[in-house]
Amino acid sequence: MKVLAIESTCDETAAAVAEGDLKGVRILKSEVASSAEIHTKYGGVVPEVAAREQVKSIIPVVEQAMAKVSADEVEAVAVSFGPGLMGSLLIGVETAKTLALSWQRKLIKVNHMKAHVAANWIVNDDSTKVPTLPAIALVVSGGHTDLILINDLDNWKWVGGTRDDAAGEAFDKAARILGLPYPGGPEMEKASKQAEEQNFKLEFRLPRPLINEDSLEMSFSGLKEALAKETRKGEISGERKLMLAREFVEAVVGVLCTKTVLAMEKFQPKSVLLAGGVAANQKLRKLLQKEVEAREMSFFTPELKYCGDNAAMVAAAAIIMPEQVVATSLRPEPSLPTA
Ligand code: KG4
Ligand code: ZN
Repeated sequence: MKVLAIESTCDETAAAVAEGDLKGVRILKSEVASSAEIHTKYGGVVPEVAAREQVKSIIPVVEQAMAKVSADEVEAVAVSFGPGLMGSLLIGVETAKTLALSWQRKLIKVNHMKAHVAANWIVNDDSTKVPTLPAIALVVSGGHTDLILINDLDNWKWVGGTRDDAAGEAFDKAARILGLPYPGGPEMEKASKQAEEQNFKLEFRLPRPLINEDSLEMSFSGLKEALAKETRKGEISGERKLMLAREFVEAVVGVLCTKTVLAMEKFQPKSVLLAGGVAANQKLRKLLQKEVEAREMSFFTPELKYCGDNAAMVAAAAIIMPEQVVATSLRPEPSLPTA
């Protein structure tokens, strides 16, 4: 079945058309408009501004996604209904409801965090493998850091995660402390890479909170405080800034990998899935892949374009876990948990 999917949880407005089944989801078109540049000048997402940008972008983005497909070919409309910002969510949800009602199509509701994970079912051709279950998923985004045990596609269990800041939030806050622009994750990665290339000697170690505890709990707010404390010691030179960024990235990636390995040892899954905006981080992708393959499990992470918010992942979730709803009854759920 062909699905038109819509994503509008935060500062991206996205639409995609896809088809497929449990053996893999093929993306026919995926369009994303982002208001991130506007938020850069405020140092973070301003919800009211994000919602207004959603209004401006939603129709052009849906039209672009539908450029080569007629409404007759679409069997269902899917939409992320949470978690996210209320104002942003409303735009996507109301658009999807309207299309489903006027075209008389099924409406499928999608949990945005599950959609991040479902991006691992996107394939380019028939030879691409999809995850085998049970799987452990590490979902790392601006608002979430969760370890999920997926026994079955309809049986997701939260098994661990952060007590305080999410990993993406930690990167965004650390970037702000270091005077780097929003969104901080890619900037921190760039700065960290430069420090590595220039072989700066690491002078000290930022803490790796809870890393030695036999639990799947994580914490990143102390780490951010430790970074802030370092910067209060005096003016930070360009070189020191890069070094601190590298320290920070290594600490966060170290904690994420250690806890995912612990979850792998506890639950012995067949696959390990990395997903969410922070999954774009090369250090995290490489290190986790190495740890997973050393234990003879299969590692999956989406292509970079499907890590940050997009609608292809929403289509994938709708195809592999269809949850049909009565269009008039759907309401956004800003605090929807991952599992
Ligand atoms: O999944 P996402 O696009 O939106 C949410 O659902 O939150 O994730 C956004 C988060 C931001 O905090 C951003 O800084 C982070 O992902 N991020 C990264 C990288 N690219 C984006 N963090 C670390 N390294 C990256 N390369
Ligand atoms: Zn997201």
